Amino acid sequence: MKIIIRSKYPTRPINQFTNLPINQTKGGEKKMKHLRTIFTLGGVAFILATVAFLTNTWATEDVRNSKHNLTTNPDIMAQGITEVCVFCHTPHGGLTNVAGGAAPIWNRNLSAATYTLYDSPNFDGKATVTQPQGVSVACLSCHDGTVAFDSLLNFSGSGSTNNITGFSPTSGTPRVDTTTRMMINSGAQEYPMLGTNLSNDHPVSMEIPCTTDPQFSQICVGIAADSARLLAGKVSYLSRSGDFILIPDGRDRIRAYPTVAGKAYIECASCHNPHENTSTRFLRHPSIDGTVLPLPSGITAAQLNSDRNAGSLLCLSCHQK
Ligand code: HEC
Ligand code: HEC
Ligand code: HEC
Ligand code: HEC
Repeated sequence: MKIIIRSKYPTRPINQFTNLPINQTKGGEKKMKHLRTIFTLGGVAFILATVAFLTNTWATEDVRNSKHNLTTNPDIMAQGITEVCVFCHTPHGGLTNVAGGAAPIWNRNLSAATYTLYDSPNFDGKATVTQPQGVSVACLSCHDGTVAFDSLLNFSGSGSTNNITGFSPTSGTPRVDTTTRMMINSGAQEYPMLGTNLSNDHPVSMEIPCTTDPQFSQICVGIAADSARLLAGKVSYLSRSGDFILIPDGRDRIRAYPTVAGKAYIECASCHNPHENTSTRFLRHPSIDGTVLPLPSGITAAQLNSDRNAGSLLCLSCHQK
């Protein structure tokens, strides 16, 4: 039987990581050769598919088109202004003490709440947890339901007068209390307001327990290799294959924050990107690839864009479970 598979490839398959032709040994039985060819091409196709969906779907940031645009979010419809960033950032006079700049030029008054924290007999990071810290504090300045959505340091225009005249939800599910202007939990199944009891939420503000918990040994390879960034106060990107170091565009990558200098901490924004398109629940892109885990069949770039946790790939990006 004539082997025709190779004729579909005018040149030899290229290894995507080395850019060198894949070495195919000569000789041997035709059937074996056939199988080997199929195997090689299959492998190349698999790697290509993996690389393609991991590189083509990063960073679909568009805060204006998300629920974090409080002036167009139909559950809030803030009145009197059209600005988007002002609910979180200000160009001048912002808070500098929120996460050492990880929540940059922050324009919100912070919550004074004391939180009930996550705990469990398995929780190795527990020793490093105090109260929510870092960029999580920025998220909780809306999501614990104790700070008015328009409790800002600087309003738009000169003189910083509160020009947010009110809100007028159009969807029938107001997210903000009429008098306090704090976020409320209005849907039985939804929880955009986490409250101050965080014991039933994924833990935050703890160091990734690299030395004690083997389920993180793979992401910890990258953390160790990237420790200079953490020491320099920069975020470190997380990947079980350890290949996220020094990537050019980190906006959508799962990450650790240097909440405590030089240490890799999990915060709300490790998993969530506040500027992401809302259809993805502000989730960052999973960092799993086919080199560490067989990817579930049928998961495509398009599916991952509408459900970033398809196949639980977001969870599996950190947990070796
Ligand atoms: C709902 C709150 C919220 C809104 C609205 C918001 N941001 Fe942010 N932004 C954050 C938080 C929280 C962080 C820190 C976490 C992070 O880096 O992802 C951040 C980080 C940033 C950063 C630094 C990190 C990076 O990716 O470079 C920039 C720049 C930024 N925001 C710009 C903007 C601009 C411009 C707008 C308006 C078009 C905006 N943000 C609207 C919450 C918000
Ligand atoms: C950015 C990395 C990261 C991602 C993504 C992530 N986790 Fe975690 N998770 C952690 C760390 C770190 C801990 C703390 C483990 C410890 O200290 O014992 C943790 C703790 C937990 C715990 C509690 C373990 C205990 O010992 O009490 C559970 C359960 C859990 N995660 C489930 C999930 C699920 C489900 C997802 C996906 C929705 C997820 N995680 C996504 C990093 C992550
Ligand atoms: C300015 C206040 C504000 C801040 C700060 C803020 N959020 Fe939100 N967030 C909202 C509002 C308002 C909604 C939409 C509520 C609704 O309409 O259901 C929302 C929705 C969400 C949702 C649900 C999205 C969906 O499609 O269901 C997530 C997840 C979320 N925020 C995470 C975060 C995280 C993580 C941070 C910090 C990095 C953060 N938010 C900071 C106000 C805020
Ligand atoms: C380990 C990853 C991880 C961390 C850390 C994390 N989240 Fe989430 N969060 C998720 C995932 C995954 C979902 C989506 C759950 C779903 O689709 O049912 C989610 C959902 C949400 C939602 C609800 C969206 C909705 O409408 O149902 C809100 C609000 C939210 N997160 C806010 C936060 C805040 C605030 C923090 C920090 C205190 C935080 N998250 C920390 C992974 C995380």
